[in-house]
Amino acid sequence: MAKLAINGGAPLRTKPFPKWPVYDEKEKQYLIEALESGKWGALHGNRVKSFSEKYAAYHEAKHGICVNSGTTALKIALSSVGIGQGDEVILPAYTFIATATAILDAGAIPVFVDIDPDTYNIDVDKIEEAITERTRGIMPVHFGGRACDMDKINTIAKKHDLKVVEDAAQAWGSEWNGKKVGALGDAGCFSFQSSKNVTSAEGGIILTNDDEVAMFAKSYMNCGRLENGIWYEHYYLGGNFRMTEFQGAILTAQFERYPAMKEKREQNARYLNEKLSQIEGIETLPDDDRITSNSNHLYIFRYKKEHFGNAPKAKFIDAMRKEGFIISAGYSIPLYSQPLLKNYAFGPRGKKVDVGVDYSKYKLPESEKACYEEALWLPQFVLLGEKEDMDDIINGILKIKENAQELQ
Ligand SMILES: Cc1ncc(COP(=O)(O)O)c(C=O)c1O
Repeated sequence: MAKLAINGGAPLRTKPFPKWPVYDEKEKQYLIEALESGKWGALHGNRVKSFSEKYAAYHEAKHGICVNSGTTALKIALSSVGIGQGDEVILPAYTFIATATAILDAGAIPVFVDIDPDTYNIDVDKIEEAITERTRGIMPVHFGGRACDMDKINTIAKKHDLKVVEDAAQAWGSEWNGKKVGALGDAGCFSFQSSKNVTSAEGGIILTNDDEVAMFAKSYMNCGRLENGIWYEHYYLGGNFRMTEFQGAILTAQFERYPAMKEKREQNARYLNEKLSQIEGIETLPDDDRITSNSNHLYIFRYKKEHFGNAPKAKFIDAMRKEGFIISAGYSIPLYSQPLLKNYAFGPRGKKVDVGVDYSKYKLPESEKACYEEALWLPQFVLLGEKEDMDDIINGILKIKENAQELQ
C-alpha cells in the first residue's frame, strides 16, 4: 500500500499552519482613528510621517520616505541617487522582476551577475567582472532576508565610483555585522506588499542617510514638488506615489508587533537549520557570523534529487504539498530568461528596444540551478508556528525520503 499522500497514503499533516496576515485590535483602532480623523492622505495626516520616522530610526537611517510600493521605492531611489538614461546597474539574476524593472523604469540597463549558492545573494566575487565603462550602480538584494556582504559591495562601489541601492524588499531589520540593512549604501528600499513580514497590502519605503537623496525621493514621490514649496510648482519628473494614512495606520500596528515575530522566525529557522542539515539530500544555507539578524521572509534550502530517487524538484514539492505542507519552488526562471528581457520588450506595447546588452548570452549556472533544480522556499508565516510544526516539516521531508521509490 502506498505510504505517500501523493499516491493515496494518509497525509502526515492535517492541521493548518499559521495564517497571514496577522492583525488584532491595534490595527482596528489605528484604522478607525485614521478614518475618523478625516485626514486620509499623508499630505494632511501624521500616521505615514510618524511611521516613516520610526522605521528609519529602527534601521539607524536619517530619512525614511514612504511610497506606494517596493517597486516604486526602487525606481525612485535609483533616480534619487542619480542613475538614469543609459547607465548600467548590476543586480543578481535570481530575484523578483521588480529589481530589474525598476532599473529599466529609471531609464537604466540591468546587467546580471550570478548568485552564490550558499547565500542565494549576488556573488560578490563576480561583481567586478560585470563592470563596464557604462556601469553606474549596484543593486544587491538581501534575498529572503539574508543580508549581503555590504562591506565588500561598498568597497567595490567606492573603487569604481558606483552608487549602491539596496533592494531590502524582504529584509526588514536584517543585519550585516550588527548594522541594519537599508541605509548601508546610498539608499535602500523595502516592500510592505501583502506577502511581506510587515504589510499594509501594498506600500514601500526608501531609507537613506543622504540629505540630497532624501530631498529628491520626497519630490519624486510627490509630483516633483519641493517640501514646503508652492503647491503648484513642480521641479522634477515625479508622480503621485504617496501612501495613504490607512496604510500608515496598519503599518504602525504591524511594526509594533514586528520585533517579537522576527525573533520567533529566527528561532524556528535556527531549529530547522539544525535538523534539516542532518538529512542527506537537503542542504541548508551555511551560518555566517556576520549575519547578525535575518528577517527570514523565506526559509530557503536546497534539494538534491539524487538522494530522493532522482525525483525532480517539482515532484518533491507536489509530494510535500499532498502531505499537508506549504512550500514553493521559488522563481521558475532566472530574470534574463523572462520574456520581457529576452524580447527586449521595453517600449510601448512591448516594442523592442535595443539597450546594448545581449541577454541571450547569459547562462549563469547557480541562478539556473536554483530555479530549475534546487531552491525550495517556505514562506515566512510558516515560521510563526511552534516547535511541533517545525517537527512536522522535518518529518514530512523524512517520510518522502524514506519512501522516495514512490516518487517514480
Ligand atoms: C526582492 C524584491 N524586490 C522588489 C519587490 C517589489 O516590491 P512590491 O511588490 O512592494 O512592489 C519585491 C516584492 O515582492 C521583492 O521580493
